Amino acid sequence: MNSAKPDDQRGAYFENLYRQDADPWRVRQRWYEERKRALLLASLPQRRYRHAYEPGCGNGELTLELARRCDRVQAADLSAEALRLTRQRLLDAGQDAHVSLARHKLPQDWPRILPGADKFDLIVLSEIAYYLTPEELARVVEHSVASLAPGGSLVLCHWRAPFAQRIVSTVRVHAAFHDAPGLYRVLRHEETDFLLGIWSNDARSVAQREGFA
Ligand SMILES: C[S@@+](CC[C@H](N)C(=O)[O-])C[C@H]1O[C@@H](n2cnc3c(N)ncnc32)[C@H](O)[C@@H]1O
Repeated sequence: MNSAKPDDQRGAYFENLYRQDADPWRVRQRWYEERKRALLLASLPQRRYRHAYEPGCGNGELTLELARRCDRVQAADLSAEALRLTRQRLLDAGQDAHVSLARHKLPQDWPRILPGADKFDLIVLSEIAYYLTPEELARVVEHSVASLAPGGSLVLCHWRAPFAQRIVSTVRVHAAFHDAPGLYRVLRHEETDFLLGIWSNDARSVAQREGFA
């Protein structure tokens, strides 16, 4: 009988996956993944960000691109092996100096923002939130709202089709953020394969922010 708690099993699942294969979803090879990252990056409402949080960073392919747009990035993952791969990816690209890596399990390890401390002006949840239970997802929504700096961007990107490890559907994940008080959707990109959404606590469009609309 397997006596491991479902939580431990989830952690072990990702750890084993990365130990067997440094790129289990082929994010470094597939045009699908490269194009999806390019769409996400092109959709960001700001050219530059001050401080990003990217939990579930995986092997660091998106982290590297975020590092090029942000003064500081806090990347995190449940898996120690994923963090090792991310560290190596950043080192190889010379983009490690302003990226800190931490082992975070959502929702409990979401960074505490002390009173007066800097909030994140970019939060990216890419292909992670459907692994959470509905209760965990609700906490992540709360943490996201509470730790988003004024005018900051909250980005969600998720594969749409069901798969064995998915707990909450992609439509429900994105709806949970859409329904959160104080968040306004500034972008929705929908394809057969994935949903990309960006929310902010500032309802203005990019043109409105730049002052010509
Ligand atoms: C499908 S990969 C996505 C990687 C990357 N964000 C991307 O879009 O390519 C999901 C990642 O989320 C991590 N993860 C899953 N559940 C997590 C949790 N509760 N807390 C932190 N990381 C988690 C896994 O270890 C894995 O690296």
